[in-house]
Amino acid sequence: MNSIGPNKQQYSSAINNKIGSLPLLPSVVSQLLVLSPDDDDFLDQVYHLARQDPTFSIRLVQYAAKTCKSSQMAEKFSLKHAIARLGSRQIASIVASLSLMDSFEPRNQSDRNLWVHSVQVAVIAKKLVEVMPDLHLESEIIYLGALLHDIGRFFIFQAVPEGPSRIDENRWSTPAALLDAEMKTCGIDHVRVGADACVHWEIPKAITDIVANHHNYNLPTDALDERLLRLRVDIIQIADFYSVYLMNQPVMVPDEIEQEEGYEEKQIEILATELAEVILSTGSVLPEKYRSIIPRTLIVQRKNILVETGKILDALGLQE
Ligand SMILES: [Fe+2]
Ligand SMILES: [Fe+2]
Repeated sequence: MNSIGPNKQQYSSAINNKIGSLPLLPSVVSQLLVLSPDDDDFLDQVYHLARQDPTFSIRLVQYAAKTCKSSQMAEKFSLKHAIARLGSRQIASIVASLSLMDSFEPRNQSDRNLWVHSVQVAVIAKKLVEVMPDLHLESEIIYLGALLHDIGRFFIFQAVPEGPSRIDENRWSTPAALLDAEMKTCGIDHVRVGADACVHWEIPKAITDIVANHHNYNLPTDALDERLLRLRVDIIQIADFYSVYLMNQPVMVPDEIEQEEGYEEKQIEILATELAEVILSTGSVLPEKYRSIIPRTLIVQRKNILVETGKILDALGLQE
């Protein structure tokens, strides 16, 4: 019989309690998340909804001002300016980031690393969508799915403060090993916790499905909607992999090495081999033609990814 020790039981009930005690997303936020950025009056709808929630309005304006380059311009921001400046594509992701911040303000380095990882996966996933336009993936769904993919880990970290170190005692190095370590320590894994949290928060189904399947490599692909989910999950899995890959690389590569002839091509080749082994060989439905574009994009965009991630973390007040 699979017995759960007292610690596991305590941990899993602490995690479930944490989900149960979370406030629902403010109604303005849940209404914003289901708006379609393609609607002609999307920005007007955002404006009217945001006006109903003064705290949210203020934070939106602050966020827009922080991402604005000129401080003179930043002073003049009104809610309308802020919304126009952020633009329809960014609004939903900012809304989600701000709401997430309310529940998971980082308290230590593990929390902070998880924030960096979540924002980074979202930035990488958005870049991947941009270089594969004929797949017609909706970048805002991918971005939100990516931002929230490890939300279950936020819960585990908060409900079980010693959780990260207990889980790491199992020395995991692959997603499957991480899920296993979480099961051993907490009796539940972050995929299940994340999916439950999305349901509790009434997050749109397309995003919840991504969270619930982000470590699934055996998704069915017969029906059209199954194929679409598989494609979305493909992007998240590649972005997730690359974010971990980046964290294990030196942040600054000396100029003389970077400018060496063939350096970039070599990096692309190494990444392509690893990606093919870890992800692209495991049930991905990404068209063959993208398999060389993906590693190239990720290596060429490396610096932009780090800069964009930094800007978002800064606007959220998460930069040290
Ligand atoms: Fe995960
Ligand atoms: Fe992840």
